[in-house]
Amino acid sequence: MSSRVALLNRITHYVVNRKGKQMRPMFVFLVAKMVSKGEVNDRTYRGASVIELIHTATLVHDDVVDDSNRRRGFFSINALWKNKIAVLVGDFLLSKGLLLSIDNNDFDLLKIISVAVREMSEGELLQIEKARKLDITEEIYYEIIRQKTATLIAACCSLGAASVKPDSEHVERMREFGELIGMAFQIKDDLFDYGDEKIGKPTGIDIKEQKMTLPLIYTLNNCSEKKRRWLINSIKNHNKDKKRVKEVIQFVKDSGGLDYAVKQMKMYQEKAFSMLENYPASPYKSSLEIMMNYVIDRKK
Ligand code: IPE
Ligand code: IPE
Ligand code: MG
Ligand code: MG
Repeated sequence: MSSRVALLNRITHYVVNRKGKQMRPMFVFLVAKMVSKGEVNDRTYRGASVIELIHTATLVHDDVVDDSNRRRGFFSINALWKNKIAVLVGDFLLSKGLLLSIDNNDFDLLKIISVAVREMSEGELLQIEKARKLDITEEIYYEIIRQKTATLIAACCSLGAASVKPDSEHVERMREFGELIGMAFQIKDDLFDYGDEKIGKPTGIDIKEQKMTLPLIYTLNNCSEKKRRWLINSIKNHNKDKKRVKEVIQFVKDSGGLDYAVKQMKMYQEKAFSMLENYPASPYKSSLEIMMNYVIDRKK
């Protein structure tokens, strides 16, 4: 990660010292081991590193997009160094990730990763488009989270399989598996926004950013016309009013919005579990199942 530019060095040190959960590399390793009975190789290690680098790059950019000042329990890069620098540092991390694949001729893995990068930027933009128009449906919500989050976890699982069994049927099957887990993962992340637990990043900012997630979408579709107008008006015109946002959150809770999102999250998780049925029992499969439970039970 080192560079001749002292400013960049300072920032990459700051980034490297604030690790996240590192769940994505774990998916890479566990899937690789499950499909190959425990064999991993250098491609698996490099692939896992690339994914975590790219994930970190997207978080640096996401905090600019969301105007968020906390990440992983500390200040975000944009909070400390401003947007201009955060955008460029995100690009640096992204290119470092891609080069790790290129320099080692892991072109099959690079293809999987590049598809995820394209999908993620498209998903983030679709989300912005919908936040502007406030016309999001449940279907579009799933499309957004599939693109912005699930594709990267899908890439982890398909890359894990491809690193040990290239061109096998596992690659596509594990992509689908990862996508399902990724959907559950983002629904959980959106549920955190309605809570007030300490999760290392702000809560209650989605409505402020006019980002409508599953609990709110469900509530809009299942309340009176009068309440619906009140909700839309709150999000459109009073989204920076803390008291009003609190009332919206309470209304969503009282309307069963969170319960519904939990139900959908579990549905995705169950679909993912069913995709593992044909893999024989192994310590790797058991660990993968523990990870799948962690995705929806986690506290941050
Ligand atoms: C956060 O991902 C971004 C989302 C897709 C919701 P993580 O929750 O995996 O972030 P870190 O890496 O552990 O900080
Ligand atoms: C997830 O988006 C980040 C990416 C997919 C790039 P969010 O904005 O929902 O995630 P957090 O809550 O900031 O981590
Ligand atoms: Mg964000
Ligand atoms: Mg975001």
